[in-house]
Amino acid sequence: MLRTVAASRYVTPLREGGSLPAIVEADDDGMYVLKFKGAGQGAKVLVAELIAGELARALGLPVPELVFIELDIDLARTEPDPEIQQLIRESAGLNIGLDYLPGSMMFDPIATQLDEELASAIVWFDALVTNVDRTVRNTNLLMWHGQVQLIDHGAALYFHHSWSDPLARAHDRFAPIKDHVLLKLGESDRAGSMSDSRRSSRPSASAKSCRSCRMHGLRAIRRLVRRRRIARSIESICCAG
Ligand SMILES: Nc1ncnc2c1ncn2[C@@H]1O[C@H](COP(=O)(O)OP(=O)(O)O)[C@@H](O)[C@H]1O
Ligand SMILES: [Mg+2]
Repeated sequence: MLRTVAASRYVTPLREGGSLPAIVEADDDGMYVLKFKGAGQGAKVLVAELIAGELARALGLPVPELVFIELDIDLARTEPDPEIQQLIRESAGLNIGLDYLPGSMMFDPIATQLDEELASAIVWFDALVTNVDRTVRNTNLLMWHGQVQLIDHGAALYFHHSWSDPLARAHDRFAPIKDHVLLKLGESDRAGSMSDSRRSSRPSASAKSCRSCRMHGLRAIRRLVRRRRIARSIESICCAG
């Protein structure tokens, strides 16, 4: 079950993010990255953030804690930037927040080689939730205390922005996975469409094609869940009421 906290102080905007998330302090003295429902494409982005983030966690992937954040428009009064004032006003009520990871750095695929099983599991998971937002340009992976953390699932489940024949589309291939930062396309012919510099910057995810990547990712997820996190995942799902 997600905790609910109330934002007590707007600390600073995170200008790297297109949706203008912010670091806020909450009434439990914790610091969170607040994702505003009044930003960009609205509340659906937060729904994707919540569903995909908790799915990843249930599968044993590392995701910062997600919380509901109650936002009072009074916080806008002390904020000098009119754009941010408006964002706060349009986001009054419940929003989503992630535990703020101080000192975390954006994952750099050149500097850091991830464990192959974990990399494959992340690729598989992003294909499952149709996440288009984990590319070389914007990895949406943070390194924190030597461990990778998955953030920003707002662009996942993008079919819910237009429900045109979802059952038929559920069988579609997820072509944008080819741009995933952790996907090494190896010798497949699709690699020909990528520049050499982009190809060499990708760590191996032990995937030679999308199909073998899916199979490898599926096995990796199963192993991760079975071996390491199964007890905790089941406990957190069963106790969620
Ligand atoms: N939990 C977190 N802890 C620390 N920094 C974070 C956290 N979540 C996001 N950030 C930082 O804020 C930036 C924007 O957040 P993100 O969720 O990616 O927003 P957007 O949807 O706008 O891209 C990230 O690139 C990262 O630098
Ligand atoms: Mg982002």
